Parts: sequence; structure tokens; C-alpha cells
Amino acid sequence: MSYPRYRKVRRKRRNPFIPAVLIAFLLVILGAVLFLLQEPVIVLSDQVKFPVGTSVTVRELVLEVQNGVLFNGEESICRTEAGTERAVIQVKNRLGGIYEESVTVTFYEIVIPDTTPPVITAPDSVEILEGQSVDLMQGVSAVDDSGEVCSVAISGEYDPAVPGVYHVFYVAADSAGNVAKKPLTFTVKKLILPFDENGKLVDGTYTTVKGFQIVVEGGMARVEGHVIANKSFALPKTYTSAWMTAETSAAYNQMKNAAQADGITLSVKSAYRSWNDQNWIFNDYVRRDGVEKAETYSARPGHSEHQTGMGLDLVTSDSIEARENAAVKAALDWLNQNAYKYGFILRYPEGKTGETGYIYEPWHYRYVGQALASTLYNNGDWITMESYYGFDSMYRGYTN
Ligand code: DAL
Ligand code: ZN
Repeated sequence: MSYPRYRKVRRKRRNPFIPAVLIAFLLVILGAVLFLLQEPVIVLSDQVKFPVGTSVTVRELVLEVQNGVLFNGEESICRTEAGTERAVIQVKNRLGGIYEESVTVTFYEIVIPDTTPPVITAPDSVEILEGQSVDLMQGVSAVDDSGEVCSVAISGEYDPAVPGVYHVFYVAADSAGNVAKKPLTFTVKKLILPFDENGKLVDGTYTTVKGFQIVVEGGMARVEGHVIANKSFALPKTYTSAWMTAETSAAYNQMKNAAQADGITLSVKSAYRSWNDQNWIFNDYVRRDGVEKAETYSARPGHSEHQTGMGLDLVTSDSIEARENAAVKAALDWLNQNAYKYGFILRYPEGKTGETGYIYEPWHYRYVGQALASTLYNNGDWITMESYYGFDSMYRGYTN
């Protein structure tokens, strides 16, 4: 019997590290491949809003790039008007491929906050005489740098009826709340008047607040030789004149001829009126309208310029209705523009009641000579004798 012989098989001993190295190698390869294939990640900046006109580079829009490299960082976008723009961000991945992502960039209009107050156009100082009325807002305006017209008010206490020096402010605010202030020195001067305690004119020489001398002689006041007749200054009851003084008449005739050459016919409705004439007229108006109203347009006897022979009612002495007549209107317009050349002034201009004491009388002209008339004409914005010389026109209880 034979027994199988066992053959001793010698096993080859394998190196146990080889598969592990292989696996590790494969894992590394796999890792590397995965690493190379990783998608880039773009972390955008929070700052995607810029003022209009800003040149924004792609780099500024990106905070960080992972797994890649920013490719078009130096490209820029810009807008000159408010709106949005799409910026494309390009990133090279690790294999060299381009990966893109877009972002919306907003461009906004720059609103400059208004911190500039308006500019006030107003006088630095205003001077009036005690008792004169004044419009401190005349010619006053305020405009903002944006062109906005702002209203102006006066801040501070003042009283035009009480002599003194008042320091007040013009104040204006724009709609953004910026406030402008402009100081005003408002002076109310006390008038040293040539009257006694009863309001009667006293002979002597007095200086007005404008530095002119009022010379009172024989109960008549003159400044620079011009006779003054208004509510403050009366004429003696006995003072008389021709229908017109010689100078007035000569000047009127010249003016009438010049007007005629322009197709305008002038006529004198009223020139000299005696104290008695004025007394009758004034009282007639008082009966008709009451004393308060009558005194707005008619002088008490002794106080009328008509008594000087130098005050003329031209074309019409009636009010409002007569002025609607085209021929009358044309004549009054002509006078308004030309009378000064012949030495006449519009004695009671519109809006000057506070100075003259009378309402607008477009027909009443006073002869003062060419020099003063040219000054008071003031390119059509008539200056009153009261304002120019610095005296008032108000009754003081005494009537000649
Ligand atoms: N109408 C003017 C004021 C006068 O009566 O003299
Ligand atoms: Zn008159």
C-alpha cells in the first residue's frame, strides 16, 4: 500500500506592503484629480453699489476666489447715469478652464445734501423819520443756490413810530431747513421841526435828517429855495400867486408844445387856488366823503401846493374813471415820462402815501426846475420831496 506522499508545497511569500502602496497611490491620484476638478468658488464683495461715474474693476467686486485664479480682475465697468450693469467675473480653474459668474452692480446718483443757506438781498440799513411809514420788505428777496425762492421775514422788535435805532434781522429758510440771517439797522429819526407847541410854523433855519436846511421866513418854508407846501408845512393865508408863477408858466408852455409835437394835447385843469378856493374845495370834499377820506386826497386850506402857483392838475383832476379814457391815459403817461425834462415832478407818486400824505395823483405836477426834477424823476421811480429832503407830511393840529 502506498500512501500518498505529501508534497511539501512551498508557498511564495508575498510582500504585504505592495497592495497598500498601490491603494495609497491610487488614492493620491484620485485626490489629485478631485482637487484639480474642484469648482472655483467666488466670494463676492458686499460692496456692489457705486456713485455714477465711478470706474469699478472686477477685482473690486471679488472678495476672495477659492479653487481658482481671478482671470479678468483688471476689466472695469462704468455708468454715467443711474442704473444697473452686469459685471462678468472670470476665474481660471486649476485645469485652466474658465469659470464665469455674473454680478449686478448698481450705480446711483450722488445727492449732495443742501447745507447752503439762501442768499438774502436786502438793505443793511433803513432810515426813516418819526411818523413816516415804511415798507421794510420793499426790494427784499431770498434765493437758494438751487434757485428756490424763499420767503423772508423780519425777526426782532421795532416800532417805526418810536425814534430809536433798531437792530433786527431779515431771516429766510430754504426747504432743506438752512437758515440765513442778514442784519438790518433800522433807524427812526426824531424830526426836529420848526413848529411851536401848537403846531404853528416858526421862522428860523432847521436841518432835516437828510442834512438839508429848511428855511422858514414869513411863515413859509423853503428848502434849496423850493417852497414847501404839504401837511406839515402850510402857507400863510395871505399868500397869493398868479394862475401860474412866471417860471411855471414858461416851463408849462414849453412842455405843452413838446407834448403836442408828440401828438399829445395837454390842458391845465387847475393851477393857482387861493386859500379861500381851497377852503371851499376841501370842505366840499369833506361834506361828500367825510373828513378822513377827504384828507387822503385834498389839502386843508393853506396846505395846498395849488396856493403856490406851481402846482398844476394837468389833463384831468378827476380820479380813476377819467384815467380809463385812452387820450387821458396817453397824456398822463407822456407826462410821467417827460415832465421832468421841463422841470416838473409827479408830486404824489403811487405807493408814496406814507411820505407825501396823499394818495396817488397821476395828474398833479409841481414845478421845481429841471435840476431837482431830474433827480426826483429817478428813471421813472419817482422820489418824493419829503424823502429826498428828509421832512414829513403830517398835520400837527394847526392850520393857517
Ligand atoms: N389834491 C392835492 C393834495 C391838493 O388838494 O392840493
Ligand atoms: Zn392838484
